Amino acid sequence: MRKKVSVIGAGNVGATCAHWIAAKEMADIVLVDLVEGVPQGKALDLMEAMPIEKRDVQITGSNDYAATANSDIVIITAGIPRKPGMSRDDLLQTNYKIMSDVVGKVVAASPNSILIIVSNPLDAMAQAAFKQAKFPRARVIGMAGVLDSARFRTFIAEELKVSVENVTAFVLGGHGDTMVPLPRYSTVSGVPITELMDKATIDRLVQRTRDGGAEIVKYLKTGSAYYAPSAATVEMVEAILKDKKKILPCAAYLEGEYGIHGLCVGVLCKLGAGGIEQVIQLKLTEEEAAGLKKSADAVKELCAVIGV
Ligand code: NAI
Ligand code: 2OP
Repeated sequence: MRKKVSVIGAGNVGATCAHWIAAKEMADIVLVDLVEGVPQGKALDLMEAMPIEKRDVQITGSNDYAATANSDIVIITAGIPRKPGMSRDDLLQTNYKIMSDVVGKVVAASPNSILIIVSNPLDAMAQAAFKQAKFPRARVIGMAGVLDSARFRTFIAEELKVSVENVTAFVLGGHGDTMVPLPRYSTVSGVPITELMDKATIDRLVQRTRDGGAEIVKYLKTGSAYYAPSAATVEMVEAILKDKKKILPCAAYLEGEYGIHGLCVGVLCKLGAGGIEQVIQLKLTEEEAAGLKKSADAVKELCAVIGV
């Protein structure tokens, strides 16, 4: 039997997640949205691409969570995106209301699923979902680190004129202005970028990574990025469905790791069939640890506003 992935929110990120999942023939897909007709229309359109793409997957659109019953994974993208001049944090109250509505219905329909949260502000929404779902922490995962790291990798590859395949990098902390790209652990074919670029160049790429979301919002004007965010989400889906034990930066509910207690923040995780199978603790320098603490404090402040 094929695996089942439901995507809540059939907007830019949600529909593009469905596109990548179908293109990779990874699972049957259910798209759900509040707006009548949109998930149905996008699902049917995508289904009609399958004979061309030679992929056998079922794609269904619905406004009813009954269609999502017994999903293996539920991706939550429902919410409003940023517009120019808005920070991710400006979305807090609106998206918290939406998240609360969605999580209750998702959990009732798929009590054994793994949730991947995408809606912003990401870490606070992951925390809200974790608290409401009452799932083990392994089954509530926030997507941001894979995206932020992919942006950093893109900029490194462009700067050094090397294949993106040669570049590994990751970003810890919250998905906001305080995120913590880690140049010391970022490499080109195993060589740390600190040996390949001067500090001023690295600082410039780090800042561009922090501003990566805003850079796209400024171009698009009416919404935010979705190709890279959905590709990042689907990399996590694939790691889980294929039990790959892949090490990826994800927002996880920390229980003392890095000295952080009871908070969803971006850290390196091992993703496999069980969801987050391990939170990996790195040795950080004093400066890196201070950056992570500052970022966690910013997430904690947002969580306090919505009481999660
Ligand atoms: P969008 O506006 O294109 O799509 C959002 C969809 O959610 C809309 O179709 C809307 O009708 C639906 N929706 C709203 N309330 C709902 C509810 N109660 N139940 C079901 N569906 C509902 O927005 P987009 O670009 O897809 O972004 C979605 C969210 O993901 C935003 O909050 C955005 O900030 C966030 N995001 C997060 C990223 C990350 O790295 N974590 C990256 C990119 C976007
Ligand atoms: C991004 O970083 C908006 O969080 C979204 O593109």
